Amino acid sequence: MSFRSILSVLSLLGAANAAGLEHPRTVIPRAPLPPAEFSVPITGKVPRRKSKSNALARRGHFGGGSGGYSSIVDGTLGDNEFVTNATIGGQHFSLIIDTGSSDTWAIQKGFQCLAVDGTPVPQSTCGFGSFIGGYGNGWSVTGPMGYDTVTVGGMSVEHQLVPVPNVAYWTGDGVNSGILGLALPTLTSAYNTTDPANATVENHLLYDPFFFTAVKEKKVKHPYFSLTLDRGTFQQRENDTFDANLGFLSFGGIPPVPVVDPCVTVPIQGYSTSSTGSLTPSNSPDAQNFWYTVDVVNYEIAGSPGLLTGSNNTILDSGTSVNDVPADVAIAFAAAFNPPAVLTTITAGLELYVVDCNATAPEFLVHIGGETFSIDPRDQIIPLGADAEGNEICVSGTQGSTLANNPNGILILGDVFLHNVVLTINPMDGEITLTQRAKY
Ligand SMILES: *[C@@H]1O[C@H](CO)[C@@H](O)[C@H](O)[C@H]1NC(C)=O
Ligand SMILES: *[C@@H]1O[C@H](CO)[C@@H](O)[C@H](O)[C@H]1NC(C)=O
Ligand SMILES: *[C@@H]1O[C@H](CO)[C@@H](O)[C@H](O)[C@H]1NC(C)=O
Ligand SMILES: *[C@@H]1O[C@H](CO)[C@@H](O)[C@H](O)[C@H]1NC(C)=O
Ligand SMILES: *[C@@H]1O[C@H](CO)[C@@H](O)[C@H](O)[C@H]1NC(C)=O
Ligand SMILES: *[C@@H]1O[C@H](CO)[C@@H](O)[C@H](O)[C@H]1NC(C)=O
Repeated sequence: MSFRSILSVLSLLGAANAAGLEHPRTVIPRAPLPPAEFSVPITGKVPRRKSKSNALARRGHFGGGSGGYSSIVDGTLGDNEFVTNATIGGQHFSLIIDTGSSDTWAIQKGFQCLAVDGTPVPQSTCGFGSFIGGYGNGWSVTGPMGYDTVTVGGMSVEHQLVPVPNVAYWTGDGVNSGILGLALPTLTSAYNTTDPANATVENHLLYDPFFFTAVKEKKVKHPYFSLTLDRGTFQQRENDTFDANLGFLSFGGIPPVPVVDPCVTVPIQGYSTSSTGSLTPSNSPDAQNFWYTVDVVNYEIAGSPGLLTGSNNTILDSGTSVNDVPADVAIAFAAAFNPPAVLTTITAGLELYVVDCNATAPEFLVHIGGETFSIDPRDQIIPLGADAEGNEICVSGTQGSTLANNPNGILILGDVFLHNVVLTINPMDGEITLTQRAKY
């Protein structure tokens, strides 16, 4: 997963325990979702071949050491990366939209710390704590935090706590300069220490992410945000570095795209944490929510008999390109391409299902909350660019996970799935609504 923080994963137990946070699993009655009050167009940024292969190399590199599920594939750093315009403190940025992390930040030249009332303060008194963010693709970003105004899609949140990175390992791609983190407060990465090595459970500080602040500041009538991420054409994914208008991020309701049946609202699946730090999906009242996790009951390959076992430990992550499913499901899915996808070592430590770019892909069906969502076969063949011999390489949009590199067993439905649905999240009430999009 591209933008999963190793550090926040390791410390997420702490996030929960230290704060003694209770996140009751309230289920509100289903009501028709209102149209959005604010919508912002999304731009797809698809990297060049070179950056794709660099990204693969990086992933190989970090994949080996990262241990966690971060080594599991997503199309590559940057592939099918979705960004949107935002301003922080009046400066314009292009931020990656990430439902899998919670901090919103941008790399900026020089910065000013602001107190909650907007007055400039010295950096030494800047804040609340330090931002110590590590990401699954190897990015690591640290710095102080301060309050500032963040505007996205015309919605201005006035007192948002934002990390102001002053030390970063971050690989720009010419477009994005940071992340718009839309996940829950439990995944924020502020610590009461300036030393990344000292960031622990005990000094983890929770704060409200952007959308939570928006709701508290009553910027939206309805506490939902909603995301549609369009698939680019094969040619765009192969060769374009910038594609405008690839979907919407909407606040306070749903975006203006055609939908069909089915539609379902499910609770966010919570977790209990063990003393060793492992996470177990849990429905108990004191379960904690971290990601936008859903219970995938089954997978199914259209035209093949039988159902494949899903997982209640599956997160909806716009920061990850591919689906990451249980190994046996991935094996069955790979076999259903014509010709079949083949598990191939791309670079040390990184194995992917590689598929003929001209293969016929199967239709993949995902059963959630008693409904069945369909993934268009066109999402399942992802171009990576040409290899050293100039041969086009494509990978499957659905990859497998093994427990060895994914100790908490957390699986992902990434952009490949999200291209097919409207994702609507009510993070305060812990609810996710999925609506199948009309074919496009
Ligand atoms: C995003 O910002 C850039 C630069 O400020 C601007 O050129 C572009 O039109 C903006 N895009 C949208 C969709 O507002
Ligand atoms: C950070 O820790 C110091 C002492 O270790 C403490 O005085 C301070 O209140 C803490 N800050 C926050 C925001 O918890
Ligand atoms: C980090 O922790 C060590 C050991 O507890 C302590 O000696 C050191 O001062 C801490 N550093 C910072 C920057 O807090
Ligand atoms: C991408 O560009 C290369 C070089 O111009 C070209 O050979 C290739 O056919 C293009 N791929 C697609 C899918 O259009
Ligand atoms: C999640 O799935 C596991 C494995 O099938 C099962 O043991 C567990 O009871 C499930 N937990 C919840 C809360 O659904
Ligand atoms: C895929 O088909 C196109 C024509 O439809 C052909 O030009 C190309 O070489 C084929 N690619 C592969 C990898 O077979």
